[in-house]
Amino acid sequence: MGVEIEIKDLTKSFGKQLIWGDVTLTIPAGEICVMLGPSGTGKSVLLKTIIGLLKPDRGSVVIQGTDIASCPEKELYEIRKLFGVLFQDGAMFGSMNLYDNIAFPLREHTNKTESQVREVVMEKLDLVGLLGTEDKLPGEISGGMRKRAGLARALVLDPEIVLFDEPDSGLDPVRTSFLNQLIVDLNAQIDATFLIVTHDINTARMVPDNIGLLYHKHLAMFGPREMLLSSEEPVVRQFLNAQVVGPIGMSEEKDADELEAEKDMELPPLPPIPLQLEPSNGQPRRSQRAPGAWCKEHGIEPPPGSFQENMSMTTGG
Ligand SMILES: Nc1ncnc2c1ncn2[C@@H]1O[C@H](COP(=O)(O)OP(=O)(O)OP(=O)(O)O)[C@@H](O)[C@H]1O
Ligand SMILES: [Mg+2]
Repeated sequence: MGVEIEIKDLTKSFGKQLIWGDVTLTIPAGEICVMLGPSGTGKSVLLKTIIGLLKPDRGSVVIQGTDIASCPEKELYEIRKLFGVLFQDGAMFGSMNLYDNIAFPLREHTNKTESQVREVVMEKLDLVGLLGTEDKLPGEISGGMRKRAGLARALVLDPEIVLFDEPDSGLDPVRTSFLNQLIVDLNAQIDATFLIVTHDINTARMVPDNIGLLYHKHLAMFGPREMLLSSEEPVVRQFLNAQVVGPIGMSEEKDADELEAEKDMELPPLPPIPLQLEPSNGQPRRSQRAPGAWCKEHGIEPPPGSFQENMSMTTGG
């Protein structure tokens, strides 16, 4: 079913350096959310704060009535069992084969017998398409396989929330497409709440139900995919369409001269909104909305050519 994450006025700094302030958003139960933002805007810090690995300066992260930011360590330990986390590099133990890596959380956190452990490990290996590789060491498989192994390990405790920190970094476009399909299929199957941090614009445009953008030490926008993909807000527009013209420069923000020079430049039109990636079995996910539903509800005319079959940005979808 998945659980909701209610984040309110969350602020985090390290020493004098403010990372982000007053971040407020509700991550709906069972839905897929993508969090975007330029490098260094604190996306990983946000994920770590959500699982309670980092303490915010103020604000709350409420899950099932418990505030992760302020609850006692014992409660935090219990709440953490709701989470599966896919770390950026897969975070596998290099000296353990895939089987033992994936079995690790089960041996650590449950009283399952070895034969029960085996059943779960094989089921998850099958789910991510890695059956037959259980004897390999992490160093013996490709980056894409390591990500999928990391995903299998994130799933063994049947999480209600899965956090993905750049699941697609270092993957080629084809493997990224396979991974995206796997993410959508998994969401349909296990119905957990997914929060994905990514730099891949195609992933952001096609996979999630909701998109958030961290920029300039705050949450610039968070909402349904169609809302952000049809937004004219300069930062959102620039980031989601990977454009050069806009407030974001090569290093953080553009200065006044740079912005002045762009003043009269014509912005390229918004590209069409692609269809959302559907589960490969053709059964819609519970949180999937009809193409164009949000735009229609809000009286927004989507960019011409939106929601057409087989249209593509740069991937075939
Ligand atoms: N434990 C820490 N102590 C001090 N500063 C930290 C710590 N963790 C992160 N930071 C700082 O917080 C800022 C945000 O880091 P974070 O890793 O969350 O960025 P990010 O948005 O995930 O970037 P990227 O897209 O490159 O992964 C950086 O300036 C980083 O140096
Ligand atoms: Mg990061």
